[in-house]
Amino acid sequence: MTITAPALLTFTADPVVDPALHAEILDLWVEVSNAGGAVGFVPPVTHEVVRPELLRHLVAMTEGRTRLVVGRDRDGRVAATAFLALNSHALMRHWLWVYTVMVAPGLQGRGAGRALMAAVADAARGIEGIDAIRLGCRGGLGLERFYVSCGYREVGRVPGAIRVAPGDDRDDVTMLLNLR
Ligand SMILES: CC(C)(COP(=O)(O)OP(=O)(O)OC[C@H]1O[C@@H](n2cnc3c(N)ncnc32)[C@H](O)[C@@H]1OP(=O)(O)O)[C@@H](O)C(=O)NCCC(=O)NCCS
Repeated sequence: MTITAPALLTFTADPVVDPALHAEILDLWVEVSNAGGAVGFVPPVTHEVVRPELLRHLVAMTEGRTRLVVGRDRDGRVAATAFLALNSHALMRHWLWVYTVMVAPGLQGRGAGRALMAAVADAARGIEGIDAIRLGCRGGLGLERFYVSCGYREVGRVPGAIRVAPGDDRDDVTMLLNLR
């Protein structure tokens, strides 16, 4: 896997989530969503709309069910995130989900996303017993191509499962990366 612009961001797995980091992730999530990013919302969104989703991730982190990878730019600002969610199902503990993959709009298109996914794969490899990473992405945006460029392959697609607006249904595409 090629990481084209590793110097753009510095990645940390499992940072301490203090109020400052919480606020920065929330700001990033709102900014990315309002720029049209497919991270759970349709623009326009506000901090109040996004905050409960972030809190859900953070609660799961405190319970040890979810891990976080954060990328900071050269000024130390949070500019990329991904959450890694472990499975509780006894028969599915050998793989994990990745959610909320995002890069600050100003840094997109320069290899930061691929570097983020490499950091995510490193973090997942560091978790005992994890053999694969699975994620879902919204169809119609070319995101499959991004994940393929990160080594993932498409393993499933539910037609029209994501309704971004009345009359605008998108496929829910499942991507998988084997780690071993
Ligand atoms: C998706 C995202 C994380 C990609 O990060 P990025 O920094 O823009 O991507 P990179 O510059 O590392 O691109 C790596 C490769 O993927 C391709 N790519 C990136 N985004 C793409 C897209 N939306 N459609 C098609 N290809 C894309 C790039 O062209 C590049 O291909 P190349 O190696 O052939 O040149 C980023 O654009 C983003 O945060 N988008 C908004 C949030 C979002 O939609 N997240 C997806 C959640 S499922």
